[in-house]
Amino acid sequence: MDQEITASRSGDLLARGEHEFQIFCAVCHGADGSGNSIMAANMPDTTPSLLAGQAIERSDSELFDLLSHGRNGMPAFDWAMPTMDRQAVVAYVRMLQQKGGSAPQERGR
Ligand code: HEC
Repeated sequence: MDQEITASRSGDLLARGEHEFQIFCAVCHGADGSGNSIMAANMPDTTPSLLAGQAIERSDSELFDLLSHGRNGMPAFDWAMPTMDRQAVVAYVRMLQQKGGSAPQERGR
């Protein structure tokens, strides 16, 4: 009998991605990925929105490489997250981009 595991797996992946994003990315890129955060406002480099421009045009692999190895003011995260979690973050960023920047519910973490 076929088990419908695909949908729930992708749901789990996004939940995992959201969790990791809030821990590692939101501090600079904002909880909604818009690039608005207290940290960004106080950093010498511009922290880009993940919902516009280059971040949208890049392929999944480019995003994955970027968050794995970093670039300029963007830290590397290969030390912090296993491959699966970094893939989950890429999936979550794609989801934020599809939502077109409407802020996800703030959670009191
Ligand atoms: C310390 C602040 C900081 C954190 C934390 C951070 N970033 Fe960044 N991010 C930056 C800055 C600054 C840049 C611009 C880098 C540059 O100018 O080359 C950037 C660039 C990027 C880009 C490239 C956008 C483009 O030009 O295509 C992506 C994608 C990105 N970050 C995703 C993430 C993700 C996903 C996380 C969490 C795993 C994360 N960032 C965590 C500061 C941060």
